[in-house]
Amino acid sequence: MTSSLSGVTGSGHRAGCRSVRSFVRRDGRLTVAQRRALDELLPRYAIDHCAGVLDFAGLFGNSHAVVVEIGFGSGSLLARQARHHAEVNFIGIEVYRPGVGHLLRLLDEQDSRNVRIFCLDAMDVLENHIPPRSLFALWLFFPDPWPKKRHHKRRIVNPEFVERVAGLLLPDGVLHIATDWSDYARHIEAVVAADGRFAIANDRTGYPFVRPQTRFEQRGLRRGYAIHDLLYRLS
Ligand SMILES: C[S@@+](CC[C@H](N)C(=O)[O-])C[C@H]1O[C@@H](n2cnc3c(N)ncnc32)[C@H](O)[C@@H]1O
Repeated sequence: MTSSLSGVTGSGHRAGCRSVRSFVRRDGRLTVAQRRALDELLPRYAIDHCAGVLDFAGLFGNSHAVVVEIGFGSGSLLARQARHHAEVNFIGIEVYRPGVGHLLRLLDEQDSRNVRIFCLDAMDVLENHIPPRSLFALWLFFPDPWPKKRHHKRRIVNPEFVERVAGLLLPDGVLHIATDWSDYARHIEAVVAADGRFAIANDRTGYPFVRPQTRFEQRGLRRGYAIHDLLYRLS
């Protein structure tokens, strides 16, 4: 298995054709430890960008439920959930290299076997790598809000995204989104309602996850922002 970090730029891949992305590259400075983690641990955890549509049982060596987290940031939430839910397999997707390096260190420290990572644009992962009707849940916690109107087209939640997710979740699968940006929350509610295939999941029966606070969420709370947790079940 080779590192897929080069796939982030997506030059030869279909990813390269996407004109509007939900992120801009801001790799910042890698710490020495993050760089070492990327060099030494990524081959163990990364899914190759040439992998095609995944065979989850082959990838994880079991048939446990699979949860995808898009934009895991520092990866603290994902590492914690992986530790608490050994009965679940997790796929994390992130394009921010320092965050990937941070998660790799956490996974190595706790010797997690139930996490794999894509360092690719999530839209390309959803389109090319996740089998239809295969996911127990998909998490999108604090996606970049792109608050300026002229940037709204960059928001990852749009009709295409919701349609794609609907095709990837198992029947009764859960789409869990959190945001601290009220205008984005209203936008998400409208887009999901317009899709028509999701019901608000007031009843969490069979959904074993409690969402820990994320780094981005803590920043929002310090600024006094309200947190919106939006849970939908595919109906
Ligand atoms: C605002 S941060 C939130 C990070 C984390 N979920 C948290 O709550 O702390 C959004 C993250 O999503 C990532 N991201 C945005 N669009 C993405 C995409 N299309 N594919 C993969 N990652 C993406 C960004 O790199 C960034 O790290």
